[in-house]
Amino acid sequence: MAEEFDDPFKELEQSVMEDMKRVYSEKTIDHFLKPRNLGEIPAPDGFGRITGPCGDTMEIYLKVRDDKVINASFWTDGCGPSIASGSMVTEMAKRVNISEAQRISQHDVLTALGGLPEESEHCALLAANTLKEAIKDYLAFKKEPWKRAYHRQ
Ligand code: FES
Repeated sequence: MAEEFDDPFKELEQSVMEDMKRVYSEKTIDHFLKPRNLGEIPAPDGFGRITGPCGDTMEIYLKVRDDKVINASFWTDGCGPSIASGSMVTEMAKRVNISEAQRISQHDVLTALGGLPEESEHCALLAANTLKEAIKDYLAFKKEPWKRAYHRQ
């Protein structure tokens, strides 16, 4: 038994992990520790940035072809659940039509993550709303893409 805790960092890691498992689903922990689609997409077709009431900001970048999301990514300075939510919402938006992506809700993100503690549910709302903002941006420039050159992100 003592051998298991020879390495104090391993012991700490294990105890942090056990604490996380008491609060978050496996899916949430997985997306938090290994976020998918993290970072900027250069010259996105759609971009959204929202700062939530908690003060954390999320950005979502979209690449769209023929009204289909071919790539999506996110960035946030927020909490673990916001990282998991950004990761999940971009996974859900990838490879679907814009109209389907537009319907992705806070509830959908929460369901896909296996739920979040009540006090963190707003993090999923931030992700869903930022995706909607990025889609709104895409739709605004769809007919007049040349205007994007004059648009400040
Ligand atoms: Fe701000 Fe989670 S607490 S996004």
